[in-house]
Amino acid sequence: MGQDYEIDQMISAKAIAARIEALAREIELRFAGTDKLVVVGLLRGSFVFIADLVRELDLPVEVDFLEASSYGDAMESSREVRILKDLRGEIGGRDVLVVEDIVDTGFTLHHVLGLLGSRAPKRLETIALLDKPSRREVDIKATWTGFEIPDAFVVGYGIDYGQRNRNLPFIGQVRLTQ
Ligand code: PRP
Ligand code: MN
Ligand code: MG
Repeated sequence: MGQDYEIDQMISAKAIAARIEALAREIELRFAGTDKLVVVGLLRGSFVFIADLVRELDLPVEVDFLEASSYGDAMESSREVRILKDLRGEIGGRDVLVVEDIVDTGFTLHHVLGLLGSRAPKRLETIALLDKPSRREVDIKATWTGFEIPDAFVVGYGIDYGQRNRNLPFIGQVRLTQ
């Protein structure tokens, strides 16, 4: 990345934690009585969110991962979603919760839901920490959303800028300098 930038905090770690607690209660209600909830994290961006979310869930949970990539190191969506790693487990007849860090154009979530839906899960719900509705190109919305945000380039809490800054504990906004 040749361009210099600074990061301004947009959503604090504390605000994220509080929102996750509230979302976990809603998920527990929706999946009450499940024999097992398969929580699917979309790599790489969701790895921090799924870690915090599953630790809040008072449900029998299995964690699995699927790697989907459409941005690579670019700032703009390629609109082509590549599945780089598939689930380890079977989801036919299971309760499934897909965990995403952010829904932007919607291509990633749309593609993944098509793929997982074709495997005939019993229930398939989605949660995204962030939603940028103003950028949507595919008509899709997660079952639960943590925060709706404006069209800003965000990083942290799992989200990268050129593969960097995923380890920030908060959601920040990239501000290009010069
Ligand atoms: C980012 C982000 C979402 C997706 C959202 O993933 O983590 O998965 O893009 O964008 P969309 O709604 O326009 O499809 P990316 O492709 O950068 O892969 P990563 O998770 O490994 O960073
Ligand atoms: Mn992603
Ligand atoms: Mg990325």
